[in-house]
Amino acid sequence: MLMYPIFITDDPDAEIEIKSLPGQKRWGINKLEGFLRPLVEKGLRSVILFGVPVELEKDECGTHADSDVTPVVQALKLLTKLFPKLLLAADVCLCEYTNHGHCGSKPDVFTPIPNHANGAPHLDPSASAKRIGEVALAYAKAGAHLVAPSDMMDGRIKSIKTMLIEHGYANRCGVMSYSAKFASGLYGPFREAAGSAPMAGDRKCYQLPPFAKGLARRAINRDVLEGADILMVKPGLPYLDIIQDCATLQPDHPTAVYQVSGEFAMIHAGAEKGVYDLRLMAEETVGSFLRAGASIILTYFTPDFLDWLDQEP
Ligand code: PBG
Ligand code: ZN
Repeated sequence: MLMYPIFITDDPDAEIEIKSLPGQKRWGINKLEGFLRPLVEKGLRSVILFGVPVELEKDECGTHADSDVTPVVQALKLLTKLFPKLLLAADVCLCEYTNHGHCGSKPDVFTPIPNHANGAPHLDPSASAKRIGEVALAYAKAGAHLVAPSDMMDGRIKSIKTMLIEHGYANRCGVMSYSAKFASGLYGPFREAAGSAPMAGDRKCYQLPPFAKGLARRAINRDVLEGADILMVKPGLPYLDIIQDCATLQPDHPTAVYQVSGEFAMIHAGAEKGVYDLRLMAEETVGSFLRAGASIILTYFTPDFLDWLDQEP
């Protein structure tokens, strides 16, 4: 049930520490076998890949999200060969590949909306959903068993599912939707790791407001109607009620939860300060997700759990 998020960059020999995410690195594809083989031998069953383009040029519509040189496409092809039993999920988003750093596409991305004081950017939902569908299909073709759209554009699940069906991938690649993804303060370390912070504005016009329980429930149900196979709640700890809602609203779909970068960094920071024991708190938080009803956990603690599960408490 543990899925390990990993960052793949476009320098093939890279192995670069991410300061705000203790123990996590940006990996080049030449380093992936050395990094993952020992984990697979310890029992690692699944990973979710995030692309971190550094050299590749960024543009309005995120051209390199699905070009042949994008590190995620290359990594999917390689990992399929190296580890045929490893479940490969690919995060699908545009923010790592767009010059404006937002998760959708539209040239007039910064057109201010009248009366919108915070200068929220205007993204075109249907253009974005179409582009995200193309990217998802490219990842499915490269070997992804699951595509996981994290953009939160309206209509993207339907667009992706339709693309997969039309191209013969319906039964080969599932859709794990970030259904209830909140505009959280806990994504900071990830944005440093992925180089995906928005150039201007914030993500509040497409991610859910933190207190919007009803919107989250509607988004979960809507994603099911559009064809999602797995539903995800993100972040985890401040949203245990939403995890429970998701599992009860849609008992026939697995509920996944993403213990995000800020949660991981927070648990590490507290342990370092001597507030609590690292392993105890990692187990207690992940245990709370299970208790709330999740059955798939995306966590940067995955390698630690592979060790801990073999050791005495
Ligand atoms: C980008 C994306 C983010 C995360 C996953 N995909 C950040 C964001 O929305 O700004 C967060 C993951 C984490 O913090 O660990 N669409
Ligand atoms: Zn994004």
